[in-house]
Amino acid sequence: MRIDVVHAFRDNYVFILSQAGEAVVVDPGDATPVLDFLKKEKLNLSTILITHHHSDHIAGIAKLIQAYAKLKIFSSKEEARVKEATVLLSPGDELLLLEQRVQILDFKGHTRGHIGYYFASGDLFSGDTLFGGCCGNIFEGTVLEMWHTLSRLRALPASTRIWCAHEYTAQYLPDAIRFAPWCQELVQRYETVKDKTTTLPLLLEEEMKTNPYLWWDHPVLVNKYGIKSGFEIFEKILQEMG
Ligand SMILES: [Fe+2]
Repeated sequence: MRIDVVHAFRDNYVFILSQAGEAVVVDPGDATPVLDFLKKEKLNLSTILITHHHSDHIAGIAKLIQAYAKLKIFSSKEEARVKEATVLLSPGDELLLLEQRVQILDFKGHTRGHIGYYFASGDLFSGDTLFGGCCGNIFEGTVLEMWHTLSRLRALPASTRIWCAHEYTAQYLPDAIRFAPWCQELVQRYETVKDKTTTLPLLLEEEMKTNPYLWWDHPVLVNKYGIKSGFEIFEKILQEMG
């Protein structure tokens, strides 16, 4: 399976997965760059995957339906606002796409029904859950739900490639460095990415080392806050990172 990235709006990513002439698109906030890419590569779009209902992830669906009438559109059962969905998913469901087994993960927190798509190849499409060095806003879920979501994400293999839906890495790493100036790996990562326009895919292994939102059991923070509860440390991280 090949994975291509097209850009939309200021910092959104839309992902185009393809194999043997068939394409699957993830979170098409804008149809135009997707249609251009499909035409250029002579791909037939069969499927759309939606992580959550925000317009910068779904606004391109209608135009894609006009171009490809038989589209299957997968979305979360709890994201009823994705009106065009043809198949509603729940966490724990499994799909077979492009000859890959795909697990549907419960990623609620950013929205009430946010889901992630984890491909057997080790590729995770995580929407607005985790970004390079930071995490998604908690708009509809609770802090506890987001912590459970990040715990599920963190439990995936360290080699997981994370395809998040926005490019924020260089923008937010300075905040992480202010939070943890003692972390040399963070400083080094910023030096590596500061002039890059694209830093995907993120590697879970690197996020574990350089993303403070995954550090609820980091010895430095356990020591700093004097508490052992992972969730309570996560709350402190959220408060301090702002
Ligand atoms: Fe969003």
